[in-house]
Amino acid sequence: MPDNSLSRTVIAAPRPETDVPRSLRRFLALTDFEPAARRHLPRQIYGYYAGAAETDAAHTGSAKALAALNLVPRALIDTRARTTRRTLFGKNYALPVGIAPMGLSGLSTFEGDLALAKAAAAENALMVMSATSLIPLERLADEGRARWFQTYLPGEPGRIRPMVARVAQAGFDTLVLTVDVPVPANRENNVRTGFSMPLRPNLRLLWDGVTHLPWSVGTFLRTLAGGMPHFENMDARRGPAILSNTVMRELGERDSLDWSHLDLIREIWRGKLVVKGILSPEDVTIARERGADGVWISNHGGRQLDTAIAPISVLREAVAAAGEMAVMIDGGFRRGTDVLKALALGADFVFIGRPFLYAAAVGGEDGIRHAFKLMQAELMRNMAMLGVNSLDEVQAAHVRMVVPGHAG
Ligand code: FNR
Repeated sequence: MPDNSLSRTVIAAPRPETDVPRSLRRFLALTDFEPAARRHLPRQIYGYYAGAAETDAAHTGSAKALAALNLVPRALIDTRARTTRRTLFGKNYALPVGIAPMGLSGLSTFEGDLALAKAAAAENALMVMSATSLIPLERLADEGRARWFQTYLPGEPGRIRPMVARVAQAGFDTLVLTVDVPVPANRENNVRTGFSMPLRPNLRLLWDGVTHLPWSVGTFLRTLAGGMPHFENMDARRGPAILSNTVMRELGERDSLDWSHLDLIREIWRGKLVVKGILSPEDVTIARERGADGVWISNHGGRQLDTAIAPISVLREAVAAAGEMAVMIDGGFRRGTDVLKALALGADFVFIGRPFLYAAAVGGEDGIRHAFKLMQAELMRNMAMLGVNSLDEVQAAHVRMVVPGHAG
């Protein structure tokens, strides 16, 4: 006898939301943007976005560490009132997920930095503008309503003071100091794909341009039509052009930056101050003692020190050391379930990098907004199955590490 009950079961197929542009309906998860972006972008640009340092261990390790954690749902809880909203530094956002600062975002789509800012603002989400952005930060604040700015500062008070003043003058309220780039990392993959800084026009680059015409015309030539892009926001004054021979010298090394410079920044910056790129709980303690408002646990997407520990692996200790400071985290987060794991371990906010660049590449502002909507839908669905109505209810008991071969 055939089991009729089975044939009567209605399995709800995911229905594309009517407000999602048709071209984006095939992207069902944040990870779906990568293969499409890989096809759309020239090899050098995709390689720069996707790559990590040396063996890739720090990058892949972050995702593996997240995968080693499992969620423990609670049952029979009315979750109709659930919401993904989260407040950080007094501002309420639609979801606890923001866009991490990413250099050269401006090459993902036309005016990519602005597209990221505008899309985030439209979704009531958080976006952090990168120091290596190609649009003046004043414009990003005005047109993009960006309010968080990430800076790379050298250990030189004479450059720190005017830069901090410029960011304040533009109306940003949160300054993120990235501290895990004392020197440029060893990204052999960039050398292999022919990506260099400065960008050097050569036959390979030209060929890649020809074979990726929609990007070349829609992003690159359109950008050049407005003038050669510059690193606009490394210093108080305009930085070098992306094709300039002096770019590395002018961007400089930051291996003299130390905690005394954080003291200086704290003294002159009135807004919220976040230290990004910390992995040691001891450094969390020092940041707290020196007056930071938040720490951002990160291994820079595995793009700096190879084999650096996965951020999620140190999160619990970092939260314990943070006291009243906000704790943010990034590295390998792709799913709503990943985000819930970090919140369960005490993070206040989670940031995601690469998938938003890929979404920008394939869909511009609409693509980025779609990525936020997918993440929010995942969170909403997962919250119901986890048995929580607010993100504050997500607790350590909701997550467990399962060691292979052992009972959980
Ligand atoms: C970055 N990241 C980064 N961080 C920063 O503080 N300033 C920057 O300018 C950049 N630039 C940058 C460019 C690109 C292409 C990537 C992919 C990353 C690191 C970024 O903020 C974040 O820490 C990681 O990207 C998070 O990892 P996932 O989500 O990309 O795995």
